[in-house]
Amino acid sequence: MSAEGSITPNAESFALSDQEFEAIAKFAHKHFGLALAASKKPLVSSRLARKLRQRNFTSFKEYLACLDGPNAEQERSGLLSLLTTNVTHFFREPHHFETLRNDVLPPLIEQARRGGRVRLWSAGCSNGQEPYSIAMTVLDMCPEAAKLDFKILGTDIDPVVVRHAQAAKYPEDELAQIDAKYRKLVPARDAEGRLPGSLRNLITFGVLNLIEPFPFKGRFDAIFCRNVAIYFDNPTQQKVWSAFQNALNPGGYLFIGHSERMSGPASQHLKTAGITTYVNSPAGR
Ligand SMILES: C[S@@+](CC[C@H](N)C(=O)[O-])C[C@H]1O[C@@H](n2cnc3c(N)ncnc32)[C@H](O)[C@@H]1O
Repeated sequence: MSAEGSITPNAESFALSDQEFEAIAKFAHKHFGLALAASKKPLVSSRLARKLRQRNFTSFKEYLACLDGPNAEQERSGLLSLLTTNVTHFFREPHHFETLRNDVLPPLIEQARRGGRVRLWSAGCSNGQEPYSIAMTVLDMCPEAAKLDFKILGTDIDPVVVRHAQAAKYPEDELAQIDAKYRKLVPARDAEGRLPGSLRNLITFGVLNLIEPFPFKGRFDAIFCRNVAIYFDNPTQQKVWSAFQNALNPGGYLFIGHSERMSGPASQHLKTAGITTYVNSPAGR
């Protein structure tokens, strides 16, 4: 980084060469699974130039070296945020939550009440609104869920958003948009302004990169992975769909984003059960 007081280079001095764009694209594909088409170069170049100025880097070369350095977490997370979006909100794509309520949860709640194990996963959960929406749906239907073997996992590659999700603090105007049916589950925040423990206790958060092998022993009954794979190229998407299919129990549900499509070998087993909704139907079952 430039020494304090030195002149920060202007935007023109940060014009990204083709070689540097390729280096960024290669890095983003290797570490995040992102596909950066050449047409994205002007966008990446202007966003990166802004970042380099903010962070007082003097060249792209220096920035690239830092991405592989010992304290790379912050830079990598910043790069990912710059290349993707964390946009999310409570009960986004509400039809998925209707399916969750009407079709997915009733037998799972019965299963949990009989002493069975239930696992739901929000993969690529961003700041947490998605897993908290799942938790609100569960809690509304099964107030005693926290006492049962009923758990929700929320993961994201970006440690910054995972910390935000764990903190469970959301602005009042965002919470005000939640349907009254569920809003009653957030009657008041605790002294620190966090969502109530009744919701927080149902969810475990963690950092997880979806393009790496999943570390789980058990399987899931439903997976939400929405508006994440859209950034992956087709071979990466197909690998991730297959990994989800393997991670689902027979009869388990996968929900994907509105502009994503199922493809590849997983589509032999993940059968359409609604809009961007799939049920795992392994061969012979
Ligand atoms: C647009 S948000 C989607 C949030 C939520 N699922 C929804 O639909 O509202 C995309 C999230 O995917 C995460 N992401 C991108 N690449 C990822 C990867 N390789 N593994 C895990 N998460 C990733 C980003 O950090 C970001 O938080």
